[in-house]
Amino acid sequence: MTITTNFEEVYQKIAALVKINPEDLLLRICELLKQEVYHYDWVGFYILDQKKDELVLGSFVGKPTQHTHIAVGKGICGQVAASGQTMVVQDVTQVENYISCGLEVQSEIVVPVLKNGKFVAELDIDSHSPAPFTNKDNEFLAKVCDLLADCF
Ligand code: SME
Repeated sequence: MTITTNFEEVYQKIAALVKINPEDLLLRICELLKQEVYHYDWVGFYILDQKKDELVLGSFVGKPTQHTHIAVGKGICGQVAASGQTMVVQDVTQVENYISCGLEVQSEIVVPVLKNGKFVAELDIDSHSPAPFTNKDNEFLAKVCDLLADCF
């Protein structure tokens, strides 16, 4: 019996994967996360602009936000950029130094992306559910961010 591999077909599949540029890849991941996880309502990446000491919004899905630039230290996003540590806010009405992106948002998790131990970007997720986040979200999202470090 001879098994003939269609190398051309396999090559085309690989070529299609390689073509996904980091920006498209990040957008696809945002879409996937929002689609697959019920309590993820807005999913986006903020990227550090080191020179300006601010975060710039990259790929995202959900309601457009006016907060496309956030200074390091400001809001939940800026605090995560400053500390390099994940922040979970189960009730956004209970925290100071929070930047609202809409009254429908009840909770938020922000997970840093570290590249060679240095903060380069973060994954920001807003939820319309009250207190939906558990350690499973933290662990899962930390793994996702580890996987994506080379996109930044
Ligand atoms: N709530 C964030 C601002 C970004 S929006 O959630 C998209 C904050 O406090 O930093």
